[in-house]
Order: sequence, then structure tokens, then C-alpha cells
Amino acid sequence: MHLISLEEASSLLVSQNIVAIPTETVYGLAANAVSNEAVAKIYALKGRPHFNPLIVHVPDLEAAEHYVVFSELAHQIARHFWPGPLTLILPLKKETPISKLVTNNLPTLGIRVPNHPLALALLKATKLPLAAPSANRSGKISPTLPEHVSLSFRKASPPILEGGKSVLGLESTILDLSHETPRLLRPGFITPKDLASFLPNLTLQKISDIIAPGQLESHYAPRHKIRLNAEWVLEGEGLLAFGPKVLPTSGPILNLSPQGDLGEAASNFFEALHKLDQMELKGIAAMTIPNEGIGIAINDRLNRAAFNKTLS
Ligand code: TXA
Ligand code: MG
Repeated sequence: MHLISLEEASSLLVSQNIVAIPTETVYGLAANAVSNEAVAKIYALKGRPHFNPLIVHVPDLEAAEHYVVFSELAHQIARHFWPGPLTLILPLKKETPISKLVTNNLPTLGIRVPNHPLALALLKATKLPLAAPSANRSGKISPTLPEHVSLSFRKASPPILEGGKSVLGLESTILDLSHETPRLLRPGFITPKDLASFLPNLTLQKISDIIAPGQLESHYAPRHKIRLNAEWVLEGEGLLAFGPKVLPTSGPILNLSPQGDLGEAASNFFEALHKLDQMELKGIAAMTIPNEGIGIAINDRLNRAAFNKTLS
């Protein structure tokens, strides 16, 4: 694992290289968002399809205003939730320096201010907007620790700015404010309830309704087949448990939260999937996670992790 300092990360980014950086949600694979050369390296390393646009990270609201157009409502929401785990999709400014590779030529941009001291220090040091998708190979499990980044990319692993465990553990909520009707594109820590005083009628878009690319049904895929809402554990399966009443099994158990706390479960979710993925198993039995609050975001990730394996 190639760990680097803030100074090294900053000079690599300024010279159009990519660096894995910590954020409060997951580790990101960062590059200078105004450089085609740098952004192309993200797509190449991740094996990410070019039609799937990237989100851009900035140090504050003022910096965001250089790139996108804020309505009064968007302003209020940004002021309330930034820095934090909320990505806003907003109309791009006409004369934008942001690379067309970031947006895949869309007239909109996904943008957020991360709430992590090192990410903010890096954004201030480089004075660059940083494009950063999650630092994993496209379609695989998201990283919440430096070792998840190096496991995902192996020999091709980028240098990593070490920032401990991503405390929230799930990617940011994505709120699209670029259309007349606001749309929630990805559930996360900021829930419709949190947004209710700004947007009383917000509901999650069903994946099939989404025209925007990237909200793919199969994602976060582990090697093993996942059995959702398991009520028992089969021979050879590992158990992804939740809460105090764990299903009986002689196999390995990873309990997302023995006390049944959904925030703790979210924080441990990708790490538990990574651990189960390292084990020789016949499959993963996943206990039911309550579909409320942050549980909705956990179930979104769990369903997509299970998706392609349940088809075959
Ligand atoms: O928490 C996060 O958001 C993390 C950390 C690193 O900040 N980043 C992250 O990026 O999850 P990524 O690329 O894995 O997910 C961004 C999602 C993709 O599904 C992409 O399709 C969507 O945002 N997206 C980006 N720009 C968009 C746009 N203009 N319209 C609609 N969706 C967009
Ligand atoms: Mg991702």
C-alpha cells in the first residue's frame, strides 16, 4: 500500500495525477476536474464506462458557485447541509472550465463539499475542483478504508492519502435540483425526512425511472451470491447479521450492529462485505435490515450488491 502525505497528494493532483482520498462517506479516486488528461486516468483505472458522469468536490459553497447555477432553494439546501454527505445535481454554468469528461457532456454537474478535514485541507491546498468517484473498480464494493482501495486495484493501486475509516460508510445522497421537479437519485445519510422542510414531497426515484446514467442496478458486487432477508443460514454460508437476535450458524458472522443501530450498520456495511468477500464461502446470507431512515440507503446498496448474483 502506497500511503502519502497531504503535501505529496497535493503536488500529485496539481501535476494531473490521481490520488485516493478519504471522505466522510467513502474513499474517492480524485483528479483535477478541469484537466481532461487527469480525469481520463480515473475512467481508465476504474474501468468505468464513459457515459457514467463523475461528481466534483469543492471546499465550500463559494467555490461551487464558480461552476454551477444555484436557485434560491439550492442555496438554502447547500448552506444547511454542506459540508456533508449531500451531492447536488445543478445546471452547469455556460463558460465552465470543468472537463467534458466529468459530465459526459450533460448540461448538469454533481457537486458536493465533503465533511472530512483532510479532504477539505487538500481542496484548499490544491485550489482545484476535484472529480472523485468512489475508489473501487467499477461495479465493485466501495472502499471505507485504505486497504479496500489497494485490494480493489492491487498492483495498479493509486497512492493513498490515509484518513482513517470513512465514518459514515455509504456514498452521499444525490439530489437532482436541475429539473423543475426535484428528484432523489441515490438514498444516503441525508434522508427525505431531513430534507422535508425544504422539499416536502420528495420521493426516491425508482431505478427504472432514471434517465441519468450511472444508477445501475448491479453494483457493489461481491464474489459471493447474496441471499436477502435470510431466515436461516445454509451450510457454508457466511452471515451478514443485524441486531441482537442473530440467526443460528456454525459459520462466520459479521454483525453490522449488535445493538441494532442503523447508523453503526451503515458505517460497517462495506467493510463487512469486503471481509466476507475475502472468505471461502458458498454464499452470503443477509438478515433483514429495517427499511427506515438510513436503513433505506443500506438496503439500496445491499439489493444492488445481490442483484446480478440472484439472476444467475
Ligand atoms: O459519497 C460520495 O458521493 C462519493 C465520495 C467519494 O464523495 N463519491 C461517489 O461517486 O459515490 P460515484 O461516482 O461512485 O457516484 C456518483 C454518482 C454516479 O452514480 C453518477 O452516475 C451520478 O453520481 N452522477 C454524477 N453526475 C451526475 C449528473 N450530472 N446527473 C445525474 N447523476 C449524476
Ligand atoms: Mg461508486
